Amino acid sequence: MTPPRHSTDRAAPIGVFDSGIGGLSVLQALRTTLPGEDVVYVADSAHTPYGERSDAFVAERTLAIARHLRDAHGAKLLVIACNTASAAGAHAVRQDNPGWPVVAIEPALKPAAHHTRTGHVGVLATRGALASRKFGALCDAMRETHPAVRFTPIACDGLASSIEQWALSGDGGQSRQLLDRYLAPLAPFGGEGDATDTLVLGCTHYPLIREQIAHRIPAGVTLIEAGQPVARHAQRLLHSTGLLRFSPGHSVAPPPGHLRLLATGATQTLHAAALRWLPGATAGAAAPAVATLAI
Ligand code: DGL
Repeated sequence: MTPPRHSTDRAAPIGVFDSGIGGLSVLQALRTTLPGEDVVYVADSAHTPYGERSDAFVAERTLAIARHLRDAHGAKLLVIACNTASAAGAHAVRQDNPGWPVVAIEPALKPAAHHTRTGHVGVLATRGALASRKFGALCDAMRETHPAVRFTPIACDGLASSIEQWALSGDGGQSRQLLDRYLAPLAPFGGEGDATDTLVLGCTHYPLIREQIAHRIPAGVTLIEAGQPVARHAQRLLHSTGLLRFSPGHSVAPPPGHLRLLATGATQTLHAAALRWLPGATAGAAAPAVATLAI
């Protein structure tokens, strides 16, 4: 039997990647759920955003970054913290790496269907994620299991880029304008009749501005994001493959895992975003340096 190409060492890091800073919303949850694990995070900043690119391009980038995390960092588990890359490339990564635990992400339609009382769910995601075969199959499955629930998908062109911009410059004007535009077709919001009472944040960038989204809709509307479920899934996979660095019953808290941040293009946006959004990093406190990665 040929040995696996991925690391099976419990002390090896978890590899996480996104087109840019969006994966930090998943990383937040991973750091809370698995605080003792080392993590290598890659932002494909040279090619962000993915949402309006071809499937073939995104699949190629996903495969290249997955291989880099596997070979150069010995990642024991891969988290594709990007809905668009998961839809386009997760299948190819799994085919390339039989047995490697790979966590992909998809817009959280199932939890939303369980949650909604009015039966109307809005789904904010990138054009690429919504146009994917994977999303189509998910919608078909939801029609079978929850025929009474109506999902309204909104392709939020430019929103992920505007959030990158916001992280770098501190100017959130464009994101606010785009939010107003993309939320409008989902109105009315609320718990009456068939109003939208549940909103799926189907791109990992969007939870970074959840406060601004929540500010625009009534308090009773629920925002559903996938960071926590993804982190719990990663924990279960590590547990079932014997790759958890520290067993859950450990009596002393594990030492905090090391975090490495890499970007394929400009590093400033990821650095600014890490300062702002990573647990433990408050304004002015040191955030890990971001190294450049040439792939
Ligand atoms: N954060 C990504 C997602 O979850 C992609 C955003 C983009 O690059 O367009 O879909």
